[in-house]
Amino acid sequence: MSYSDPTELGILACPGAEAFAEQVIRRLAGIYRRRFERKASALASRYHITPELVTRKINFANDCNTGMLFLPGPTDRYRPPQFKISARHTWFANGEIKTEILESIRGKDLYIFQDIENHQPVAFNDGSIQRVLSVNDHIFNLFVAIDAAMQAGAARINLVLPIYPYSRQHKKKGREGLTAARIGKMLESLGVDRIITLDIHSREIENAFDRLRLENLHASFQIIDKLMSIVDIGTEDMVVLAPDTGAVDRNKFYANALQKPLALLYKERDYSKVSRNAADSNISEMRLLGNVKGKTVFMADDMIGTGGTLIKAMKYLKEQGAEKVICAVSLPLFSGTAVEDFDAAYRQGYFNRIIGTNAIYHNELLKKEWYIQSDVTGLFAQIISLLHHNRSLSSLLDNRDVVARLIRRKMRHANAPTSNQDSVSTDSEGTHPDDEAIPYGPAISKQ
Ligand code: R5P
Repeated sequence: MSYSDPTELGILACPGAEAFAEQVIRRLAGIYRRRFERKASALASRYHITPELVTRKINFANDCNTGMLFLPGPTDRYRPPQFKISARHTWFANGEIKTEILESIRGKDLYIFQDIENHQPVAFNDGSIQRVLSVNDHIFNLFVAIDAAMQAGAARINLVLPIYPYSRQHKKKGREGLTAARIGKMLESLGVDRIITLDIHSREIENAFDRLRLENLHASFQIIDKLMSIVDIGTEDMVVLAPDTGAVDRNKFYANALQKPLALLYKERDYSKVSRNAADSNISEMRLLGNVKGKTVFMADDMIGTGGTLIKAMKYLKEQGAEKVICAVSLPLFSGTAVEDFDAAYRQGYFNRIIGTNAIYHNELLKKEWYIQSDVTGLFAQIISLLHHNRSLSSLLDNRDVVARLIRRKMRHANAPTSNQDSVSTDSEGTHPDDEAIPYGPAISKQ
């Protein structure tokens, strides 16, 4: 197991995924540095030598193991692993694209990042061309990057796709395709070994894969951390509400964790209609199971697309007497006019806050008073590091204990006299400082 350079772990970002990949790389760098320091100090005390000598010995071993004469950099200091793989992405006049990998990746465990919902301008041709890409452009760019990595001899190709492409086309009615499953098969046939995603719309998608493994992460730890920074869970008269039947398991998890009652909004959808925006969605009828009158309602969904699902729900909840409405989503797509529609809904008092993760790039949201961003880069860094070293992920995938500890700690913090407060907080990004011992994923069995 390598704690410092050389590393076999490589991170390649497709155009539009650079910001998220950079942040994950920073998190990884922190994880590796802390591991190295722990290792050096443990070996120093075991062999009665100084940590400086341990560092030199590790550097010596790494220099012996490299195919080069020796690695550049100091011999007496920690040499942080360089995870980032440089690449050039070219946009041709006819709309074709090309990825060139600019350094050797032969034998690497490669993680290719792609954010298919980034609809801000992205850079090609060394920054000289900016293009706004559709979901389909991004998917094709991903295919091209995977093939480049395959041709260049990567040992293992992993994709980091916070949103799984076409995940809402996971079941068919009548003469429709099963596009979510087909995308997986295409990726599999290109040589992809694993996909890491966030809160996938339907777990059944992976039933279509032969070899490809899917790691489905959840952001419940990070979301609860943010939620508890805006409400006092101990005293708040709160109900957790599933905004539709597909969201029951997710919200049951939150209700159990927060020790609050669960309510359900039952919706009829007219699937002959495509939701165009929040005002023109395909929801035809709603019924509330549970009581929201005078209460704070917290509801979690996998994504906000047009916003139709949540805005309709929020308006209805207000009509039913809800005092405050707070929503959380893992995937804040905010398609079409969704940002303006949420602005309008906020002005009308339909909701108080939306918590969303930074797994989808949407800078505009950060300027909104009603939007709170939770950071999942630590979660992705953790999972990548565990996968790279073939270590168990179970503590990341079932985080009930960790969430319970977070809630207890935060509640103690809320009740503690002011002078004690610093000693019990999580770090500024809502993740626990000890990323070695504490996993980040949640324990939702099915979405
Ligand atoms: C529905 O089944 C999903 O979980 C989301 O609620 C839905 O896809 C959100 O889309 P929109 O924001 O367009 O209503």
